[in-house]
Amino acid sequence: MSVAQQVFLRDAMRRLNLTRDVFATRIGVKRRALDTWLLPEGSQEFRAMPEVVNRFVTEIVENEALLQKYAQSAQSGPLRDRIAAEGKHQLISVDQFTRESVEEFCRVADQMQPIARRQKVSRVLEGAVLGNLFFEASTRTRVSFGAAFCRLGGSVCDTTGFTFSSMAKGESIYDTSRVMSGYVDAMVIRHPDEGSVAEFARATNIPVVNGGDGPGEHPSQALLDLYTILNEFSRLGKLLDGAHIALAGDLKYGRTVHSLMKLLSLYRGLKFTLISPVGLEMPEYILQQVGKHGHVIEQTHSLEEGVVGADVVYATRVQKERFAAEELEGINLDFQVNKAIIDRCGKPDVIVMHPLPRDSREGANDLSTDLNHDPRLAIFRQTDNGIPVRMAIFAVLLGVEELVQHSLRDVTWSPPSHIGPDDSVFHGMD
Ligand code: NCD
Repeated sequence: MSVAQQVFLRDAMRRLNLTRDVFATRIGVKRRALDTWLLPEGSQEFRAMPEVVNRFVTEIVENEALLQKYAQSAQSGPLRDRIAAEGKHQLISVDQFTRESVEEFCRVADQMQPIARRQKVSRVLEGAVLGNLFFEASTRTRVSFGAAFCRLGGSVCDTTGFTFSSMAKGESIYDTSRVMSGYVDAMVIRHPDEGSVAEFARATNIPVVNGGDGPGEHPSQALLDLYTILNEFSRLGKLLDGAHIALAGDLKYGRTVHSLMKLLSLYRGLKFTLISPVGLEMPEYILQQVGKHGHVIEQTHSLEEGVVGADVVYATRVQKERFAAEELEGINLDFQVNKAIIDRCGKPDVIVMHPLPRDSREGANDLSTDLNHDPRLAIFRQTDNGIPVRMAIFAVLLGVEELVQHSLRDVTWSPPSHIGPDDSVFHGMD
């Protein structure tokens, strides 16, 4: 087959909107067999599916009336044109996506997995240079964007911090953006002011990606969060339509939850439980935007009440850097997602997520480390997904996603079978 088996099957289930159980029943195979076909090709338990299944599934997918809309969208030009912002190939907000385009995007991310898992290499972006401009603190977003660009064969130039940039000398966003456009082929920008990345984007015609604009948006994080939820749900035999999502922590300034809630609202019949300390509630404009899609939205200040019945508990850090000192004083930050709460109040198959970084210091009110060996904790599967998702962002915005499949070569080195010392806990969960 021209695409990897895992990509083909995941895509078929997504398009048909079927859980693994229902899909297995529909094609007349045991769930266990389907699970082995869905494993990465390098894994020990992987099995190739019979050619007859390939043909049968292709037939179903092609004949499904539901798929007419996918066919239409596929005919209406490249994905980057359909998600364009003001006619440019840039990613500023999750508002640029529809359900169809985000699912097509996930398919591109799936195709990046052999590269992200260090089985294959590609040079489709050879010669291209990324400007990774971070005017605010970052570790994972900056490095994962850089690594994703490198893994497609490009090179990266970084800047970090505001103090060491020309903006500290009073340079405007317009000038910085225009100057950088002469040096690089794409830019990722993180900046402390909401709306600033859109301003960067208006001053250039090269692809710009929003790596976080103050308390505004963080679209690449939302895409990797959605991609993680879809993959975890596939493993658990659940659909995102109708799911119950709890968002907990600083919902006022947390840009990751702003983008995620809007992106999830593209799905049907969700229940959102918004759990925050008093004073850190989700902004009204997001509630209104999501409310228009007909989802149920509940708000509470009690963590214990809020996690009951949730399929996903997404915890966030209090964004202390965005508060005036006196503003923080009045807020009760006694708010820790930990094993005791998840055991007592959570569903047995809940998944616990966090965009990271979490504050792991003694007594911190953040996601506790006592869930570290619990398979319900998806945070490192989430960070790992940052690579294929950010590769997909570049591939789509630079228009090379169709070239990746044919550019793959085997890696020359031998990566460890589990990249993290605790990863065997999750082995076979994919
Ligand atoms: C988040 C951010 O910067 O918005 N981190 C990230 O990019 N993964 C969350 C945070 O800083 O709390």
